[in-house]
Amino acid sequence: METIDLRSDTVTLPSDEMREAIYRAELGDDVFGEDPTVNRLEQMSAERVGKEAALLVPTGTMGNLASILTHCRRGDEIILGDHCHTFLYEAGGISALGGIHPRPIPNQPDGTLRLEDIEAAIRPDNVHFPRTRLICLENTHNRCNGAALTPEYTVVVTELARRHGLVVHLDGARIFNAAVALGVDVRVLTRDVDSLSFCLSKGLAAPVGSLICGTRDFVAEARRARKILGGGMRQAGIIAAAGIVALDSMTDRIQVDHDNAARLAEGIVQISGLSIDLARVQTNIVYFEVARERLGAEELARRLAGQGVKVLSVGPTRLRAVTHYGITADDIDQALTALATVMTSA
Ligand SMILES: Cc1ncc(COP(=O)(O)O)c(C=O)c1O
Repeated sequence: METIDLRSDTVTLPSDEMREAIYRAELGDDVFGEDPTVNRLEQMSAERVGKEAALLVPTGTMGNLASILTHCRRGDEIILGDHCHTFLYEAGGISALGGIHPRPIPNQPDGTLRLEDIEAAIRPDNVHFPRTRLICLENTHNRCNGAALTPEYTVVVTELARRHGLVVHLDGARIFNAAVALGVDVRVLTRDVDSLSFCLSKGLAAPVGSLICGTRDFVAEARRARKILGGGMRQAGIIAAAGIVALDSMTDRIQVDHDNAARLAEGIVQISGLSIDLARVQTNIVYFEVARERLGAEELARRLAGQGVKVLSVGPTRLRAVTHYGITADDIDQALTALATVMTSA
């Protein structure tokens, strides 16, 4: 039985074209700035998101951490959503390693932070308070149903930040999903922020890698932060080669993932005992709820796995399924059949 793995878009395996590119990659020592494939990926990435420079890092977690370490000093405070990845799932790295104080404020269901909440969280200049330094946004927003933040919202937040002398970092792990969902060039979503990180290894299906993007000066400093974190890699062109293929060939197919997510969500609506807010399914991330006595999310995920379909249990009754490269409409139909079977026998 072939497994249909919908736990995350990080489970993708490299395409044949990526494997070929990895095999043929021209390499050098990237810590000396001498890996031509890394240099090409960094230049391509900066151009794609409309920034002066970019820096390859191993993970999205390091991308966010190195960016925030570069913007902030110890004792500074950053404003971020209480459901955002950096606050919830990055092992408290900004505090543990950077002495940076997180100030979480409520994420709205559409992934935004209310402007009033941001304003209220900005500290006045007073010796008792940490210094507010940065606002962190996440687009698309993983925990908020993969919601895409609009260009208009991004601009308003960056304007607010400028008025208060703050900088904005964007966790754009899935920024290309956002651009596709909104039908805009990705630059419209990245132009106004001071820095962003985006991932090659999620919706773009590369095996490894994320890029930090910003001004030339910012990226030069982030390079030092990357080194401190142990992220200076040598013949990293092995990674970059697949990343170049990802940027060249994977952004145009993201709509397929979004269509498959919508297909899955529309199917879930039809299954008794499951519920989902269809209007919230905008990109490739589908959250749904199970409401059956004796069948919690974990047990449902276990039974589904027995049918060859993997999803993630993310709460007592909440589950997540993510569509990605390698998942077809037919796989979605099979997953729905498995879900219906499990629910009928529950
Ligand atoms: C929104 C978001 N940011 C950052 C990350 C971290 O990426 P990585 O797993 O490469 O560290 C993830 C991972 O899923 C994510 O969903």
